[in-house]
Amino acid sequence: METINPGTIGKANVFENTLDFARHLDNEDPLKAFRGKFYIPIIQGKECIYFTGNSLGLQPKTAQEYILSDLEDWANYGVEGHVHARNPWIKYHEMFPEKLAPMLGALEEEVVVMNQLTINLHLLLITFYKPVKERFKIICEAKAFPSDQYALESQVLLSGFDPGKSIIEVKPREGEHIIRNEDIIATIKEHGNEIAVIMIGGVNYYTGQVFDMKTITTVAHEVGAFCGFDLAHAVGNIKPELHKWDVDFACWCSYKYLNSGPGAVAGAFIHQRHVENKSLRRLTGWWGTNKENRFKMEKTFDPIPTAEGWQLSNSPILNMAAHKASLDIFEEAGFENVVKKGKKLSAFLLFVLDDINASCSKKIIEIITPRDESEHGCQVSVLMLEKGKEIFESLKKNGVIVDWREPNVIRLAPVPLYNTFEDIYKFGQIIKNML
Ligand SMILES: Cc1ncc(COP(=O)(O)O)c(C=O)c1O
Repeated sequence: METINPGTIGKANVFENTLDFARHLDNEDPLKAFRGKFYIPIIQGKECIYFTGNSLGLQPKTAQEYILSDLEDWANYGVEGHVHARNPWIKYHEMFPEKLAPMLGALEEEVVVMNQLTINLHLLLITFYKPVKERFKIICEAKAFPSDQYALESQVLLSGFDPGKSIIEVKPREGEHIIRNEDIIATIKEHGNEIAVIMIGGVNYYTGQVFDMKTITTVAHEVGAFCGFDLAHAVGNIKPELHKWDVDFACWCSYKYLNSGPGAVAGAFIHQRHVENKSLRRLTGWWGTNKENRFKMEKTFDPIPTAEGWQLSNSPILNMAAHKASLDIFEEAGFENVVKKGKKLSAFLLFVLDDINASCSKKIIEIITPRDESEHGCQVSVLMLEKGKEIFESLKKNGVIVDWREPNVIRLAPVPLYNTFEDIYKFGQIIKNML
C-alpha cells in the first residue's frame, strides 16, 4: 500500500493518498447515502467524476417527480391551480425562505426566491446604488464574474455617472492570485465617504476565495456605504451569517451548489433593517404589492414589508418545483453536515494535489485557492504550470469533468451531496498517470 506523509485538516483529520483510505473516509461519511439521490452523468459506460457542481449542480432524482406533480396539477386544474394545486401556485414561493434562511444565516422575511441572478443584482442595485455628486463610487473585486461587471457598469451609466471614475476594483497584489481582505478594507477606507456601495462576490468564482464578508460589511457601514454580496458561489457551499453581519443585500443563483437545474430560479436577501422601508427606491411589479389588495387591481403600489416586496412577477412554478426537490434534500441532509463534509473533501483534494506535486520532479500545479479552511469552500482552483489544456482534455477522456478557465486554471469542486473521497483519489491517480 502506497502511503505518504499524512496531511491534516484542523487537528481532526489525517489523510493518506490511497484507495483504501479514501474508501474508509467514504464509509464513515454520514452523507454517503445522498449520492444515490442524484443522477451522475455517465461517460464511456461509467459514472463520471463530476467536479463541476460549482457550475451546474447535478439533477436530484426527485426533480422529475416534483415537476410532473405540478404539470399534473396544471392539467387537472388549469387556472384553478393557483389556489387548488397541491402546492398552490399563488403562494408557491412562500415555502422557500424557511428552507433557505438557515443556509444563509438570514431571517425568513429577508429572503425571497425570484428571477435570475443578474436580474436580482440589478433590482438590488436600483435600491442600494443611488449615487449623488459626493457619494457615487462602487467598490468591487477585480475580475468579478463578467455579468456582475456589466451590471455594475450599466447601473453607473443609468445614473449618469462615469464607470471609469466610479467603479473601483481591488486587485491581487503583484505576483499574487487572491485579493487580500486587508486591501479591500484599505480601499474602502481610502475612498471613504465617496463610496455608495460595496458589491463583491462572497466567494470568488475564479479562485474560490471566501472574502471576509463580516469585516467588509462593518467597514462599509463605518464609511456610510451599503454593502452587498453576489453569493453565486457561496450559497449551498459555505454558511454566511447575513443577518448577524448586517449585510444590506445579497443575491445568488440556484443552479450551482443548490442543484436546481439550468437557469433555475434565483434568490435575494434584503436585510430586515430595510424590508419595511416602503420609501426605498425599487422597480415594482404586482407580485411585490400587498397580497390582500393585489387582486383588487388597484393603481397604488403598497410594497410587502418583507423581501417579497422586491418581487415583480408571479412565480415560475415548474422551475421552482426543481428548486424544491433540491432544497428538500438539503433539509434532509442537514446543512451543517453538508458544510462539514465540504471542508473535508476540499482538504483531501488539497492533500492529493500536494502529493501530485511531491511525486513530480518539479511543481506542475500551483494551488491558487487560499488554504485556510475559513477562506475557501468546496472549490479548489489550480494554475496548471505545464500541459494545462492537454491535461484538461485528457481528464475528460478519462471520465473526469472539471472546468477550464483561460488562461490556464482548472477549477475543481467536489461537492458534499454527491462527490466521494474516492472520486478525489481516482482523480489524483488519473493526473499522476498523465505526467
Ligand atoms: C458570480 C456570478 N455572477 C453572475 C452570474 C450570472 O448568473 P445568471 O446567468 O444566473 O444571471 C454567474 C453565473 O455563473 C456567476 O457565477
